[in-house]
Amino acid sequence: MTDQTPGTPQVAVLGGGVMGETLLAALLTAGWAPEQLEVTEHSPARAAELAGRYAVRTGASNREAAARADVVLVAVKPNVVSTVLDEIAPVLKGGEVVVTVAAGLPISAYEGRLPAATPVVRVMPNTPAVVGKGASAIAGGTHATDGHLVLVEKMLASTGLVVRVAEKDLDAVTAISGSGPAYAFYLIDAMAEAGVLLGLTRDLATKLAVATVEGSAALAAQSGDHPVVLRERVSSPGGTTVAAVRELDAHGVRAGVVAAAEAARDRSRELGAQYAG
Ligand SMILES: NC(=O)c1ccc[n+]([C@@H]2O[C@H](COP(=O)([O-])OP(=O)(O)OC[C@H]3O[C@@H](n4cnc5c(N)ncnc54)[C@H](OP(=O)(O)O)[C@@H]3O)[C@@H](O)[C@H]2O)c1
Repeated sequence: MTDQTPGTPQVAVLGGGVMGETLLAALLTAGWAPEQLEVTEHSPARAAELAGRYAVRTGASNREAAARADVVLVAVKPNVVSTVLDEIAPVLKGGEVVVTVAAGLPISAYEGRLPAATPVVRVMPNTPAVVGKGASAIAGGTHATDGHLVLVEKMLASTGLVVRVAEKDLDAVTAISGSGPAYAFYLIDAMAEAGVLLGLTRDLATKLAVATVEGSAALAAQSGDHPVVLRERVSSPGGTTVAAVRELDAHGVRAGVVAAAEAARDRSRELGAQYAG
């Protein structure tokens, strides 16, 4: 594929798991036709499920699918990526773009296994992409042009926010938005549990916690105000909220979040080095 390839090139999604299916759905929403898409899967039952749901081609090997594609989208687990790259490298003709969502693995590991000058774009998505509220960061490799990044932005358009970063920042992105949904679910669960402790039913407490986190994120996004300003606005002098926030501080919640993010970044680096090796 060249920098100028227009429209919606043929895409092979290698791996039809959670992320593979999310990306398949996103491509259809972004204007790709089912006949321009193909997905490969280990399990015939899963392949049949995806074919039934999206009317896309399934059943081919990674190598066959890659040979037909302009864009090869790698959506297998990081420990399988090297095997998949070795499978497809011999059939790439030189113009294809390889896009990967695998966590941790550096672009150099792809460039080292693929034909010389293959453009590689690395994406760190997150699971809220399933409902169009994701946050993805993309970084281009040595041979990826602005046109390739624009194409990937178009592919991800319906999944939510897409930002460009330098590859060196992807471990930090992994720690914030990649793993971040787990932190948000952790908070929701803790709030719901607290509600139960205070006498609410679990169902009601969970509904209130989910709506509160969702609404607060929407308010922060729409107002553009700093989170501290938003927090001060709900903290009246001598009131309930300042009493609660003092306890969050006393229990080191902020420091816990920072330590959690550092641990996720370090683990991302470790896994990347391990899988690249
Ligand atoms: N889920 C997330 O929140 C998230 C966020 C950011 C990045 N990612 C990245 O997205 C990638 C996929 O993650 P996931 O959560 O979607 O995992 P997943 O649900 O396990 O999906 C991977 C799929 O690939 C299939 N597969 C395994 N080996 C294959 C092969 N050789 N050829 C073709 N298909 C193969 C698996 O089938 P079997 O199960 O039968 O082996 C599975 O259906 C990972 O690299 C991950 O780092 C995921």
